[in-house]
Amino acid sequence: MSPIPELGAIPAGTVNLTDYTAHARSRLDDNAWAYFSGGAADELTLQANRTAWDQLLLHPRVLRALAGGHTRQTLLGRVLEHPIMLAPVAFQRMAHPDGELGTAYAAAAQSAGIILSTQATTSLEHIAQAIVADPGRGPLWFQLYLQHERAFTQALVQRAEAAGYEALVLTVDAPTSGARDRERRVEFKLPPGITAVNLANLPEAPVASLSPGKSAMFDGLLSMAPTWSDIAWLQSITRLPILLKGILHEDDARQAAQLGVAGLIVSNHGGRTLDTAIPTAWALPRIAQAVGPNMPLLVDGGIRRGTDVLKAIALGAHAVLIGRPYVHALATAGALGVAHVIRLLRDELEIAMALTGCATLDDITPSVLFKHP
Ligand code: FNR
Ligand code: LAC
Repeated sequence: MSPIPELGAIPAGTVNLTDYTAHARSRLDDNAWAYFSGGAADELTLQANRTAWDQLLLHPRVLRALAGGHTRQTLLGRVLEHPIMLAPVAFQRMAHPDGELGTAYAAAAQSAGIILSTQATTSLEHIAQAIVADPGRGPLWFQLYLQHERAFTQALVQRAEAAGYEALVLTVDAPTSGARDRERRVEFKLPPGITAVNLANLPEAPVASLSPGKSAMFDGLLSMAPTWSDIAWLQSITRLPILLKGILHEDDARQAAQLGVAGLIVSNHGGRTLDTAIPTAWALPRIAQAVGPNMPLLVDGGIRRGTDVLKAIALGAHAVLIGRPYVHALATAGALGVAHVIRLLRDELEIAMALTGCATLDDITPSVLFKHP
């Protein structure tokens, strides 16, 4: 049996997602705070993700009939109650003892999909067992980082399939970590007992013996990084649909579509990898145009308000992911905090739909966005 997550208390006056930032700051030590909140380098992309949503202005319509409206969406053949999912975030037991289990229960209770990180601190089987039979839960997907050993990666994929995960999300924007200044300042370390348990038996990566003039980056780490040819390999070893996470360029989106991937997640890793990469709100409409409306398209990065979700849908997304907000809520109040954040965002989405005159997600078209004359 899975332990029942602890229900912490939601601090009085917590009314939106960003309110959880300060609560988390006061509960996490400098080490965990740097990890869960930081971005790469000067954090320009981290900030730009937010600013880009804010700079899109709405052009509402009135007097439309809204009775019977809803937030349902169909994604990979499944009907979701609403288009909000939880992004893969590593090492969640560093935020709260309930870790990924608390997140999973909260998501299931709020019908939100989850994407479990390869670097989760709870076994993938344990998470699946806890929620897979819940009829009200949202999608259960597994985020994959290809490991240096193919056989290990294949076994990991087989475990995810056997446990009941419904899709694989291959993260492609992090062949290396970004330059994480915040983490370096605090000399970030994983605390004792916090490990990527699903990678427990992974053999050590071979240490490339570098001859003079060779680069530790290009001849070491990146000689093992995934490339386009690995997509076909991954497709050949799994029956699960594969989504690529971390697409920003429309040419990559087209290439992925040609390879028959099941969906794309427009993402810059929450500004944690390449600093000064474009905000996702700018990439999304270009990619939506490149791949057309039939390719399942998700987006993340800086989504904090129901109006951000509405704007993402207007720009062509079928669903959105949130990262830091739910981890900050987990750090604050465990599973209860995570459930609260999902509910807040969903309620705000419904308000935004009502006030722009959109009864369903299909009604949210580019015409809700103001076009500067
Ligand atoms: C992440 N992200 C991430 N992505 C991924 O594919 N695998 C992972 O293990 C992680 N781990 C991770 C840890 C932390 C602390 C953060 C903040 C982010 C990226 C994540 O899935 C998502 O793309 C962003 O977090 C979305 O941006 P916001 O909502 O945090 O602004
Ligand atoms: C990160 C990795 C785990 O962003 O994706 O920290």
